[in-house]
Amino acid sequence: MIKATSVSKTYNNGKVEALKNVSVDIRNGEFAVILGASGSGKSTLMNMLSGLERPDCGKITVEGTDITELNEKQLTAFRRDNVGFVFQQYYLLPHLSVESNVKLGADIARNKNYMPIIDALGLCDKLRAKPSELSGGEQQRVCIARALAKNPKILFLDEPTGALDEKTGRAVLDCIMREKTRRGFTMIMVTHNRNIGETAQTVIEMNSGEIIDTHAVSRQKSAYEIGW
Ligand SMILES: Nc1ncnc2c1ncn2[C@@H]1O[C@H](COP(=O)(O)OP(=O)(O)O)[C@@H](O)[C@H]1O
Ligand SMILES: [Mg+2]
Repeated sequence: MIKATSVSKTYNNGKVEALKNVSVDIRNGEFAVILGASGSGKSTLMNMLSGLERPDCGKITVEGTDITELNEKQLTAFRRDNVGFVFQQYYLLPHLSVESNVKLGADIARNKNYMPIIDALGLCDKLRAKPSELSGGEQQRVCIARALAKNPKILFLDEPTGALDEKTGRAVLDCIMREKTRRGFTMIMVTHNRNIGETAQTVIEMNSGEIIDTHAVSRQKSAYEIGW
Protein backbone atom coordinates (compact mmCIF):
# COMPACT_ATOMS: atom_id res chain seq x y z
CA MET A 1 0.00 0.00 0.00
CA ILE A 2 1.22 3.45 -0.97
CA LYS A 3 -0.07 6.25 1.20
CA ALA A 4 0.65 9.94 0.70
CA THR A 5 -0.50 12.33 3.41
CA SER A 6 -0.59 16.12 2.93
CA VAL A 7 2.28 16.19 0.47
CA SER A 8 3.41 19.54 -0.88
CA LYS A 9 6.16 20.46 -3.32
CA THR A 10 7.28 23.83 -4.64
CA TYR A 11 9.90 24.76 -7.22
CA ASN A 12 11.78 28.01 -7.89
CA ASN A 13 12.01 29.02 -4.23
CA GLY A 14 8.32 28.52 -3.59
CA LYS A 15 7.14 30.42 -6.66
CA VAL A 16 5.73 27.29 -8.35
CA GLU A 17 3.39 25.22 -6.19
CA ALA A 18 3.56 21.91 -8.06
CA LEU A 19 1.71 19.92 -5.34
CA LYS A 20 -0.58 21.40 -2.72
CA ASN A 21 -1.40 19.27 0.28
CA VAL A 22 -2.06 16.10 -1.70
CA SER A 23 -3.22 12.88 -0.03
CA VAL A 24 -3.77 9.60 -1.83
CA ASP A 25 -3.99 5.85 -1.09
CA ILE A 26 -3.12 3.15 -3.57
CA ARG A 27 -3.76 -0.50 -2.73
CA ASN A 28 -1.37 -3.35 -3.51
CA GLY A 29 -2.05 -4.70 -6.98
CA GLU A 30 -4.14 -1.69 -7.96
CA PHE A 31 -3.93 -0.08 -11.41
CA ALA A 32 -4.33 3.67 -10.91
CA VAL A 33 -4.22 6.29 -13.64
CA ILE A 34 -3.29 9.87 -12.74
CA LEU A 35 -5.06 12.22 -15.17
CA GLY A 36 -4.79 15.95 -15.68
CA ALA A 37 -3.77 18.67 -18.08
CA SER A 38 -0.14 19.52 -18.72
CA GLY A 39 1.36 21.29 -15.70
CA SER A 40 -1.23 19.96 -13.23
CA GLY A 41 1.37 18.16 -11.12
CA LYS A 42 1.05 14.56 -12.35
CA SER A 43 4.74 13.91 -12.87
CA THR A 44 5.61 15.65 -9.62
CA LEU A 45 3.21 13.37 -7.73
CA MET A 46 4.62 10.30 -9.47
CA ASN A 47 8.17 11.38 -8.68
CA MET A 48 7.26 11.77 -4.99
CA LEU A 49 5.42 8.43 -4.73
CA SER A 50 8.31 6.59 -6.36
CA GLY A 51 11.07 8.18 -4.30
CA LEU A 52 12.69 9.94 -7.26
CA GLU A 53 12.20 13.28 -5.54
CA ARG A 54 11.43 14.43 -2.02
CA PRO A 55 8.41 16.50 -1.00
CA ASP A 56 8.85 19.76 0.94
CA CYS A 57 6.43 18.46 3.55
CA GLY A 58 4.06 15.58 4.11
CA LYS A 59 4.53 11.88 4.51
CA ILE A 60 4.72 9.03 1.98
CA THR A 61 4.59 5.48 3.24
CA VAL A 62 5.13 2.40 1.10
CA GLU A 63 4.26 -0.82 2.92
CA GLY A 64 4.48 1.14 6.16
CA THR A 65 7.95 2.62 5.52
CA ASP A 66 8.04 6.42 5.43
CA ILE A 67 10.23 6.99 2.38
CA THR A 68 10.54 10.72 3.11
CA GLU A 69 12.65 9.80 6.14
CA LEU A 70 15.13 7.63 4.24
CA ASN A 71 18.63 8.96 3.56
CA GLU A 72 19.94 9.03 -0.04
CA LYS A 73 21.48 5.58 0.19
CA GLN A 74 18.33 4.06 1.68
CA LEU A 75 16.17 5.79 -0.91
CA THR A 76 18.32 4.43 -3.74
CA ALA A 77 17.96 0.95 -2.24
CA PHE A 78 14.20 1.47 -1.94
CA ARG A 79 13.93 2.32 -5.64
CA ARG A 80 16.22 -0.52 -6.64
CA ASP A 81 14.23 -3.11 -4.71
CA ASN A 82 10.70 -1.88 -5.24
CA VAL A 83 10.04 0.26 -8.26
CA GLY A 84 10.27 0.17 -12.04
CA PHE A 85 9.97 3.19 -14.33
CA VAL A 86 8.81 3.80 -17.87
CA PHE A 87 8.91 7.33 -19.28
CA GLN A 88 7.72 9.03 -22.45
CA GLN A 89 11.35 9.25 -23.61
CA TYR A 90 12.97 5.85 -23.88
CA TYR A 91 16.34 6.38 -22.16
CA LEU A 92 17.78 3.23 -23.69
CA LEU A 93 21.54 2.87 -23.93
CA PRO A 94 22.19 3.47 -27.64
CA HIS A 95 25.31 1.33 -27.96
CA LEU A 96 23.72 -1.73 -26.33
CA SER A 97 21.49 -4.34 -27.96
CA VAL A 98 17.87 -4.94 -26.98
CA GLU A 99 18.91 -7.94 -24.92
CA SER A 100 21.67 -6.03 -23.11
CA ASN A 101 19.34 -3.14 -22.34
CA VAL A 102 16.82 -5.53 -20.79
CA LYS A 103 19.59 -7.38 -18.98
CA LEU A 104 20.55 -4.11 -17.25
CA GLY A 105 17.19 -4.22 -15.50
CA ALA A 106 17.39 -7.96 -14.85
CA ASP A 107 20.87 -7.71 -13.30
CA ILE A 108 19.63 -5.26 -10.67
CA ALA A 109 17.31 -7.97 -9.36
CA ARG A 110 19.77 -10.80 -10.16
CA ASN A 111 17.05 -12.10 -12.47
CA LYS A 112 18.50 -14.62 -14.92
CA ASN A 113 15.11 -15.48 -16.33
CA TYR A 114 14.40 -12.36 -18.38
CA MET A 115 13.90 -14.03 -21.75
CA PRO A 116 10.19 -14.75 -21.09
CA ILE A 117 9.70 -11.01 -20.59
CA ILE A 118 11.40 -10.20 -23.89
CA ASP A 119 9.20 -12.85 -25.48
CA ALA A 120 6.01 -11.49 -23.86
CA LEU A 121 6.78 -8.07 -25.31
CA GLY A 122 7.28 -9.52 -28.77
CA LEU A 123 10.95 -8.64 -29.02
CA CYS A 124 12.54 -12.05 -29.59
CA ASP A 125 13.44 -11.30 -33.19
CA LYS A 126 15.09 -8.00 -32.18
CA LEU A 127 17.50 -9.32 -29.54
CA ARG A 128 20.65 -8.09 -31.28
CA ALA A 129 19.17 -4.85 -32.63
CA LYS A 130 20.34 -1.47 -31.34
CA PRO A 131 17.73 1.06 -30.22
CA SER A 132 18.32 3.22 -33.35
CA GLU A 133 17.25 0.27 -35.48
CA LEU A 134 13.86 0.03 -33.76
CA SER A 135 10.57 1.87 -34.18
CA GLY A 136 9.25 4.05 -31.34
CA GLY A 137 6.79 1.36 -30.25
CA GLU A 138 9.55 -1.26 -30.20
CA GLN A 139 11.82 1.01 -28.19
CA GLN A 140 9.06 1.60 -25.66
CA ARG A 141 8.47 -2.17 -25.40
CA VAL A 142 12.19 -2.57 -24.63
CA CYS A 143 11.80 0.01 -21.85
CA ILE A 144 8.84 -1.91 -20.45
CA ALA A 145 10.79 -5.18 -20.64
CA ARG A 146 13.76 -3.53 -18.89
CA ALA A 147 11.49 -2.19 -16.13
CA LEU A 148 9.74 -5.55 -15.67
CA ALA A 149 12.97 -7.56 -15.74
CA LYS A 150 13.83 -6.07 -12.39
CA ASN A 151 10.67 -7.59 -10.90
CA PRO A 152 9.31 -4.34 -9.46
CA LYS A 153 6.57 -4.40 -6.85
CA ILE A 154 5.33 -1.10 -8.24
CA LEU A 155 5.54 -0.01 -11.88
CA PHE A 156 5.39 3.74 -12.54
CA LEU A 157 4.74 4.94 -16.07
CA ASP A 158 4.82 8.63 -17.03
CA GLU A 159 3.04 9.23 -20.35
CA PRO A 160 4.24 5.87 -21.73
CA THR A 161 2.28 6.30 -24.96
CA GLY A 162 2.90 10.04 -25.23
CA ALA A 163 5.38 9.78 -28.10
CA LEU A 164 3.49 7.09 -30.01
CA ASP A 165 0.83 7.22 -32.71
CA GLU A 166 -2.60 5.78 -31.94
CA LYS A 167 -2.04 2.30 -33.37
CA THR A 168 1.33 1.85 -31.68
CA GLY A 169 0.10 3.50 -28.48
CA ARG A 170 -2.78 1.06 -28.19
CA ALA A 171 -0.47 -1.91 -28.81
CA VAL A 172 1.98 -0.72 -26.15
CA LEU A 173 -0.84 -0.04 -23.66
CA ASP A 174 -2.20 -3.53 -24.35
CA CYS A 175 1.26 -5.04 -23.60
CA ILE A 176 1.46 -3.09 -20.35
CA MET A 177 -2.01 -4.21 -19.26
CA ARG A 178 -1.39 -7.85 -20.11
CA GLU A 179 1.82 -7.89 -18.07
CA LYS A 180 0.03 -6.16 -15.20
CA THR A 181 -2.67 -8.85 -15.23
CA ARG A 182 -0.15 -11.65 -15.51
CA ARG A 183 2.20 -10.44 -12.77
CA GLY A 184 -0.07 -8.54 -10.43
CA PHE A 185 2.26 -5.68 -9.51
CA THR A 186 0.87 -2.32 -8.45
CA MET A 187 0.75 0.06 -11.41
CA ILE A 188 0.54 3.85 -11.47
CA MET A 189 0.30 5.47 -14.89
CA VAL A 190 0.41 9.19 -15.57
CA THR A 191 -1.32 10.43 -18.72
CA HIS A 192 -3.16 13.42 -20.11
CA ASN A 193 -5.19 11.09 -22.38
CA ARG A 194 -8.55 10.86 -20.59
CA ASN A 195 -9.54 7.75 -22.53
CA ILE A 196 -6.74 5.77 -20.89
CA GLY A 197 -8.48 6.33 -17.55
CA GLU A 198 -11.11 3.83 -18.70
CA THR A 199 -8.53 1.03 -18.66
CA ALA A 200 -7.67 1.60 -14.98
CA GLN A 201 -9.31 0.44 -11.75
CA THR A 202 -8.97 3.89 -10.22
CA VAL A 203 -8.72 7.34 -11.76
CA ILE A 204 -7.02 10.12 -9.80
CA GLU A 205 -7.67 13.47 -11.40
CA MET A 206 -5.40 16.45 -10.83
CA ASN A 207 -5.67 20.15 -11.50
CA SER A 208 -3.29 22.94 -10.41
CA GLY A 209 -1.32 20.74 -8.02
CA GLU A 210 -4.38 19.28 -6.31
CA ILE A 211 -6.34 16.04 -6.57
CA ILE A 212 -9.80 17.17 -7.61
CA ASP A 213 -11.42 13.73 -7.96
CA THR A 214 -10.72 10.06 -7.28
CA HIS A 215 -13.09 7.43 -8.54
CA ALA A 216 -13.29 3.69 -9.17
CA VAL A 217 -13.90 2.61 -12.75
CA SER A 218 -16.98 0.37 -12.93
CA ARG A 219 -15.86 -1.64 -15.95
CA GLN A 220 -12.24 -1.58 -17.03
CA LYS A 221 -11.86 -1.48 -20.80
CA SER A 222 -9.07 -2.93 -22.93
CA ALA A 223 -6.63 -0.81 -24.90
CA TYR A 224 -8.68 -1.56 -28.03
CA GLU A 225 -12.09 -0.64 -26.57
CA ILE A 226 -11.31 2.92 -25.56
CA GLY A 227 -11.28 6.07 -27.67
CA TRP A 228 -7.87 7.66 -28.27
N1 LIG B 1 12.14 20.69 -11.76
C1 LIG B 1 11.26 21.68 -11.84
N2 LIG B 1 11.62 22.98 -11.69
C2 LIG B 1 10.73 23.99 -11.76
N3 LIG B 1 9.42 23.81 -11.98
C3 LIG B 1 8.99 22.55 -12.12
C4 LIG B 1 9.87 21.42 -12.07
N4 LIG B 1 9.13 20.31 -12.25
C5 LIG B 1 7.87 20.70 -12.42
N5 LIG B 1 7.76 22.05 -12.34
C6 LIG B 1 6.51 22.83 -12.44
O1 LIG B 1 5.57 22.25 -11.58
C7 LIG B 1 4.28 22.22 -12.15
C8 LIG B 1 3.79 20.78 -12.28
O2 LIG B 1 4.62 20.11 -13.23
P1 LIG B 1 4.46 18.57 -13.59
O3 LIG B 1 4.33 17.78 -12.36
O4 LIG B 1 5.57 18.23 -14.49
O5 LIG B 1 3.07 18.56 -14.37
P2 LIG B 1 2.45 17.49 -15.37
O6 LIG B 1 3.25 16.23 -15.26
O7 LIG B 1 1.03 17.32 -14.92
O8 LIG B 1 2.53 18.09 -16.74
C9 LIG B 1 4.42 22.93 -13.50
O9 LIG B 1 4.09 24.28 -13.31
C10 LIG B 1 5.89 22.77 -13.82
O10 LIG B 1 6.34 23.81 -14.65
MG1 LIG C 1 4.33 15.25 -16.71
